[in-house]
Amino acid sequence: MLRRALICGFLASALLAVAACDSSPKQPGYEFMPEMVRSVPYDAFASNPNFKDGKTLQAPPAGTVPRGFLPYPYGATPEDAQKAGAELKNPIPFTPEALARGEQVYRNFCLICHGETGQGDGPLIPKYPNPPSLTGKTLMQYPDGRFFHIVTVGSGEMAAYASQIRPEDRWKLVFYLRKLQGLTPGAETKPATEFAPAAPAPSPAAESLPTGGRAP
Ligand code: HEC
Repeated sequence: MLRRALICGFLASALLAVAACDSSPKQPGYEFMPEMVRSVPYDAFASNPNFKDGKTLQAPPAGTVPRGFLPYPYGATPEDAQKAGAELKNPIPFTPEALARGEQVYRNFCLICHGETGQGDGPLIPKYPNPPSLTGKTLMQYPDGRFFHIVTVGSGEMAAYASQIRPEDRWKLVFYLRKLQGLTPGAETKPATEFAPAAPAPSPAAESLPTGGRAP
């Protein structure tokens, strides 16, 4: 009895499998239970009859700012670098942990060109154009905001790091650059006790966006 049931079951499933086949190997044939394999909504780049412009992906309305973001109003020009240097202030309270994070960021992203001590002698040099020494006279005089700006938008031959380094990590990196320069990190920043309340935790969505300054 059991054997008969098994044989019947086997035959029934074999029949179903054969029925699902199609003469063309490029066609999937009949699907008994496709469930949610095929998406019902419009794809991001598919045309869409519901909108006037016929596109699914709609542009944000002019003049709007994504939630959790501040627009970064400085371009990659020397004038804007100077302006950013004068106007941007480090919003991160100085702590040894922030400095340690800054060192980690430097070692991960900058050391390869700028070198262990910032002399512009990293392992990638001279395969890449020589960066200036971070302890040179000019760079010693840059304000904190200018370093933040350079890392955000790049400078000359150097690429922008806005998409790889979060804004708060860029400020922590500035602490470490100051240390490399033999200056007091956090000297331009208010002491930690004056920061109240603490900066809000970054939202994961905001972190993945490449733009510059997020609301501190
Ligand atoms: C791939 C190599 C490379 C990496 C990585 C790199 N830099 Fe640079 N950096 C350069 C070069 C080359 C210049 C000189 C650019 C020029 O003047 O055209 C430069 C210039 C600079 C300057 C001086 C800019 C100015 O206005 O004079 C600073 C500050 C700086 N880099 C900081 C950093 C920091 C901080 C990092 C890590 C986030 C970093 N760099 C990563 C190659 C690099």
